[in-house]
Amino acid sequence: MARFGLTQVVKLGSNENPLGVSPRVRDAVIRILDRAHHYPDGESTRLRGRLAGRFGLTPEHFCVANGADNILTCLGLAFVERGDRCVTGLPTYTAYAGLVRLLEGELVEVPLREWTFDVRALAEAAAGAKAVIVCNPNNPTGSILRHDELQALAEGVPPDALLVVDEAYAEWVDDPAFPDSVALLRRHPNIVIVRTFSKIYGLAGLRVGYAIGAPEIVASLNQVREPFPVDRLAQAAAEAALDDDAYARAAYENNRAGKAALAQGLTALGLRPLPSQANFVLVDLGRPAATVAERLLERGVIIRPGGMWRLPMWARITVGTPQEIARLLEALSTVLRQPA
Ligand SMILES: Cc1ncc(COP(=O)(O)O)c(C=O)c1O
Repeated sequence: MARFGLTQVVKLGSNENPLGVSPRVRDAVIRILDRAHHYPDGESTRLRGRLAGRFGLTPEHFCVANGADNILTCLGLAFVERGDRCVTGLPTYTAYAGLVRLLEGELVEVPLREWTFDVRALAEAAAGAKAVIVCNPNNPTGSILRHDELQALAEGVPPDALLVVDEAYAEWVDDPAFPDSVALLRRHPNIVIVRTFSKIYGLAGLRVGYAIGAPEIVASLNQVREPFPVDRLAQAAAEAALDDDAYARAAYENNRAGKAALAQGLTALGLRPLPSQANFVLVDLGRPAATVAERLLERGVIIRPGGMWRLPMWARITVGTPQEIARLLEALSTVLRQPA
């Protein structure tokens, strides 16, 4: 829980890691601080080497930048020009639509089917497209495309179009059918996987994300990225976080148990949260979620109302610590007893 003035604020609106900063990351950042007068390594060489080892690829398959959002921006700058058709789902992570609009591309938003990306409709819309973007697990629904579904999509997208697979939440997944997207990338070099250290590694405030792609695609990203996209502290933190299996495991376990407790608590309030493979759940509140969110905020609890996804009665709630979940459920129970 973040301390905010005299109130303990429960921040469940941004899908952050509720366990706070890992001690190993803190030590690594403090150690590197004395060298902050030197520029960082613009190529994040050591981190890319570590990632290459982890994924069984070469460092040339990785571009590390200032968060996954920065990777998405670099993809847009490198590949999307005015009028280019870019296909994604609805609802999904809103940054995709924002970026396509900014670059004056032609945005095609294919409605999800049963809260999941509609592979057939996406593949149909992909004809003549520059890029198809999916989010897996999807923000805000928490649903996944299975391996066979992503494979079918990769086969349906023209080889000269990029297939961007945003896996910001991949490390939370426990469904064994979740894609081995690196194996698909070996067969479909137009795939670009996007990952982040903001979620299970708990580094949202330090900003490290990366792309995994064919070396030619990564070379194009390197042409448009800033010369020093990741500062020294963030690189040291990400390297330490990769070593910190105990922290990632604790975060995963907290999320698994907390997600079940949150779903159970919401169900006890008469709500029906969607099943989720990520560190958040999407739930129909049966009344304007913006008002519920405001009233929760008055009680020190932050959630994300669904208006930005054109789901005004729904809200996305991040899985917090057990105490945070209890605070949310108690406050929500009070608010839902009030007239809408
Ligand atoms: C699906 C998705 N992709 C990318 C990001 C951005 O991640 P980063 O903090 O690495 O910029 C987020 C952040 O919430 C996200 O939900």
